[in-house]
Amino acid sequence: MDLKLKGKTALITGASGGIGSAVAEGLAAEGVHTCLNYNSNDKEVRRLQDLFRKKGLKSEIFKADISSNDDVQNMVDFAIEKLGHIDILINNAGISYHKKFLDMEMNDWDKVMDINLKSCFIASQLVARHMAKRGVGGKIVNNSSMVEGVARPNLTTYCVSKGGLGALARSLAVELAPYNIQVNNVNPGIIETKILGDKLENEPGFKQHLIDFIPMGRLGTAEECADLFVFLASQRSNYITGASYYIDGGVTISQL
Ligand SMILES: NC(=O)c1ccc[n+]([C@@H]2O[C@H](COP(=O)([O-])OP(=O)(O)OC[C@H]3O[C@@H](n4cnc5c(N)ncnc54)[C@H](O)[C@@H]3O)[C@@H](O)[C@H]2O)c1
Repeated sequence: MDLKLKGKTALITGASGGIGSAVAEGLAAEGVHTCLNYNSNDKEVRRLQDLFRKKGLKSEIFKADISSNDDVQNMVDFAIEKLGHIDILINNAGISYHKKFLDMEMNDWDKVMDINLKSCFIASQLVARHMAKRGVGGKIVNNSSMVEGVARPNLTTYCVSKGGLGALARSLAVELAPYNIQVNNVNPGIIETKILGDKLENEPGFKQHLIDFIPMGRLGTAEECADLFVFLASQRSNYITGASYYIDGGVTISQL
């Protein structure tokens, strides 16, 4: 099936590993020109940029801490200048944050909200203004989480930030529908990336402990998530908006 993505342009946050770089690879495989955001380590985005340019695609990289409003503004301006316009925004960057609610301080709240939620609000607003002005529509796809609609212990700020992304996607979907801009969320379950922390490699039994919760009996991969992002960024999902799609091997529906 032709996803009709060839020649489109995408800005992807947190493209320096995990699900973000898999999404970048998935979009580039469909002929999409990319602007790849990273924050600290440029090795992976440089690898991707080389790969994509060798395929004849435009590919730019931009260092930005997405918790900074100015950085987000500069990132969006850069992407528009270098790619000419933005058809697709992938709000992927995020952090996990484990702490007991009773021990939390306001800094904990601010940090997670700034990175996981506020950045998506600002980037979406800047890109949607650009898309609305262009008048040819566009796609915004957020990396939310299976916790968008459920609670997990010691993950309060993370759960609130991802719950907020659900509300954000629904609200923007309604307001941006007249501009033919679709806004959707991908809600991954437990995916084998660095966000799961060192315990995955260093603590014997930890991986199996996670797997025990998952009906499909394995962790998910970044590439499997990327396929869903690519579909939601494509012209094959044009009547889908304000939706949150769970990709979790059945874990969310199976919790008692
Ligand atoms: N892996 C999972 O199990 C899982 C499950 C549900 C949701 N998610 C979501 O997927 C997204 C990607 O995570 P991942 O699993 O690929 O893990 P990851 O740690 O490999 O990727 C996170 C990315 O976000 C970037 N990032 C973090 N803070 C940033 C900042 N201030 N500015 C710019 N970039 C920043 C990191 O540099 C990295 O590229 C996150 O939003 C996460 O919440 C992951």
